[in-house]
Amino acid sequence: MIELGVNIDHIATIRQARRTNEPDPVAAAMLAQLGGADGITVHLREDRRHIQDRDIRVLRETVTVKYNFELSCAAEIVSIAVDCKPQQATLVPERREEVTTEGGLDVTNNPPRVVEAIERLTAIGVDVCLFLDPDTQQIDAAAALGVYAIELHTGQYALATQKSERDYQLKRLQEASAAIVAHKMQLHAGHGLTYHNVGPIAAIPNMRELNIGHSIISRAVLVGMRDAVSEMKRLITTAATR
Ligand code: PXP
Repeated sequence: MIELGVNIDHIATIRQARRTNEPDPVAAAMLAQLGGADGITVHLREDRRHIQDRDIRVLRETVTVKYNFELSCAAEIVSIAVDCKPQQATLVPERREEVTTEGGLDVTNNPPRVVEAIERLTAIGVDVCLFLDPDTQQIDAAAALGVYAIELHTGQYALATQKSERDYQLKRLQEASAAIVAHKMQLHAGHGLTYHNVGPIAAIPNMRELNIGHSIISRAVLVGMRDAVSEMKRLITTAATR
C-alpha cells in the first residue's frame, strides 16, 4: 500500500497572507485525515513564511496519522523537531529566496550539518528521511548514512512539458527507486505531483509514500468555492430581509 502524506503548508500560506487565524492548518489536517490521508506533512521553514511554531505544537497533539516534519538541517530548526518528536522527519535543503524546495540535498562527502541532524533525530527514535534528486551517487551516499527512507524529488518530472523529457525523468526516478530498494531503505517521492501526473510515480514498484501539497490544496479551494459563496450569500440575504 502507498501512503498519502498531505502537505498542508499552503493552507498556512493563505492564512499568512493576512496574518490572521484562518484558514487553520490544524482544521485542514483534521479534514485531510477524514478524507483518508495516511500522513500530515508540514515544512517549518527558517523564514516562517507559512507554517508557524504554534502549528507544529498543536498538530503534534492533534494529528492521529503519521506526522511528517519537513525541515532544513539548521540547528535551531532541528532543535524544534527534537522537541516535537514527530514520527518522521524529512531533511530538505532550504534557500531563503526560493519559491519552493528546488532540488534535493547533497549528501556526498558526509556534510556535517546533515550528519548531525540525522544523529540528533535518530537518537530520539524519529524515522529520518532524506529528500534527494534521483541520482544514484546521492542514494549510495545516503545509504552509508544509515537513514530510514529516501524521498525522491519528482520536480523535474513534474515540470517536463515534452513527452521525451517526461519519459527520461521517469526513467531516472525508476532507476533511483530500484537503488533505494536495493539498499533496503523505504521509498518515498514527492514535489509537483498532480492529479494528472501522479499515476506513473504511484506505479513505481515498492513505492511506500507520496507527499502531495500544492495540487491538493489548489483543488480543495476550487471544489469548495461554490458552497463557500452560497453560504455567504445566504447569510447576507437573511440579514437583509429580516
Ligand atoms: N515533499 C517535499 C520534501 C517538499 O519539500 C514538498 C514541498 O514542500 C512536497 C513534498 C510537496 O510538494 P507539492 O506542494 O509540490 O506537492
